Amino acid sequence: MTFPVDVVVMAAGKGTRMKSLRPKVLHRLGGRALAQHVIDCAARLSARSVVVITGHGAELVEAGLSTPPVAEGEPLALRYVRQEPQLGTGHAVQQAVPVLPDDGVVLVLNGDVPLIEPGTLQQLLQACGGQHLALLSVDTGSDAGSYGRLLRAPDGAVQAIVEFKDATDAQRRTTEWYSGVMAAPARLLKSWLAQLTNNNSQGEYYLTDVVRHAVAGGHGVRAIVTDDEVQVAGVNSPQQLAELERAYQRRAADRLMAQGVRLADPARFDVRGELVCGQDVEIDVNCVFEGTVELGQGVRIGAHCVVANARIDAGVVIHPFTHIDGDRQGVVVGAGSLVGPFARLRPGARLGAEVHIGNFVEVKNSTLADGAKANHLAYLGDATVGERVNYGAGSITANYDGANKHRTVIEADVHVGSNSVLVAPVTLGAGGTVGAGSVITKDAPAGALSVVRGKPFTVPGWKRPAKKSG
Ligand code: UD1
Ligand code: CA
Repeated sequence: MTFPVDVVVMAAGKGTRMKSLRPKVLHRLGGRALAQHVIDCAARLSARSVVVITGHGAELVEAGLSTPPVAEGEPLALRYVRQEPQLGTGHAVQQAVPVLPDDGVVLVLNGDVPLIEPGTLQQLLQACGGQHLALLSVDTGSDAGSYGRLLRAPDGAVQAIVEFKDATDAQRRTTEWYSGVMAAPARLLKSWLAQLTNNNSQGEYYLTDVVRHAVAGGHGVRAIVTDDEVQVAGVNSPQQLAELERAYQRRAADRLMAQGVRLADPARFDVRGELVCGQDVEIDVNCVFEGTVELGQGVRIGAHCVVANARIDAGVVIHPFTHIDGDRQGVVVGAGSLVGPFARLRPGARLGAEVHIGNFVEVKNSTLADGAKANHLAYLGDATVGERVNYGAGSITANYDGANKHRTVIEADVHVGSNSVLVAPVTLGAGGTVGAGSVITKDAPAGALSVVRGKPFTVPGWKRPAKKSG
């Protein structure tokens, strides 16, 4: 593009039909706020700035959105402008006029239309060419509902947009409708905005009236027509949000399958962030991926797993019902490891190669070296676990003394017997063995057997208490 693009995102409306205390544009789709999708799309277009028009829930909206990180160059300038009260879409864009430079093209987007794609907007900007008013319209040949209709002259020239509530029956039969997306040179748009009136059935300042003013001023109006309803679909109700979520997930699933990922069922699959997959990855039904997740070559994820902010290396098998959440610290599962079923890996869990984490085992902020195993019902928190350690069923690190967290160090080849409690800070020397049921409060020497438990004794002929009569 040879001209700078400044994006205006309209997000001041109430969203009454969501019946929610949360502003509509902050409702999430694919794990991201609706309006965040729009801002991120603007960033991918290399827009110069984004102005978000806020009104209802303005403070929440402004706090809930952010500038996406950019790989190179200038970060996107993100600004907020308040619209108080909300007198229509034209009035909304009027509020942005003082912050829109005259040398740019203004691209108007809706904060509640999240799945618009950069490619479509590029086409629109090309049609604008820095000179014309360009509209994105939709025509699927079917009834256009309550959307604004595009009115064209017999030669096809766009003449006006008429809102459904103001349209005649004949106009309502038009199947081409306005998507809510337009691009125009800032200077011209400002002159048209200055001419808007609220002389219509809703008493609002309609942005769509700029079309009439452009035509009246002798400026050509161009329209790009799409039949991809997903890209222009707005969210007004929980039903529409859920439908669009499925459409979004289906597109994400299709992209992954096109790369060779085998999804057991693309309809039962959710990505709420970025999922990067190597070759021959298999994902069973009902898995959810959040944040940034990398799955290496040949990884298999069983049914009903939730995986967030984690790197899973080649050949790993995650068995069903496993919950992995790296949050900000991340989780790493080394090549060839087996995890689950019913395992939980928390922030800072770092597993080496060929590690086994079995059912009902929880690992937090701990490093497990290659070949370490914790197969049943165990807790490892704030621990450093050496190679080939075998950590017995029911054992736990008592890492918290009620005030501070302490580390447990288990050196290579240690065997921790079942149901042991390792009271941190404590170190188990290499090759040592801890007898089952021990409570270890002092460092255990390398190569030794350490047992800390009550002495066994028996009472011969022991009579159990009997129930008293009467
Ligand atoms: C608008 C268009 C209509 C088009 C439809 C596509 C107008 C007059 N009509 O209608 O032609 O077919 O979008 O979805 O533009 N907003 C504000 N401030 C306001 C009013 C609205 O910020 O004062 C925001 C809303 O939050 C929303 C967007 O503008 O994000 C669109 O508003 P909405 O009321 O949904 O417009 P429609 O009547 O649906
Ligand atoms: Ca709408």
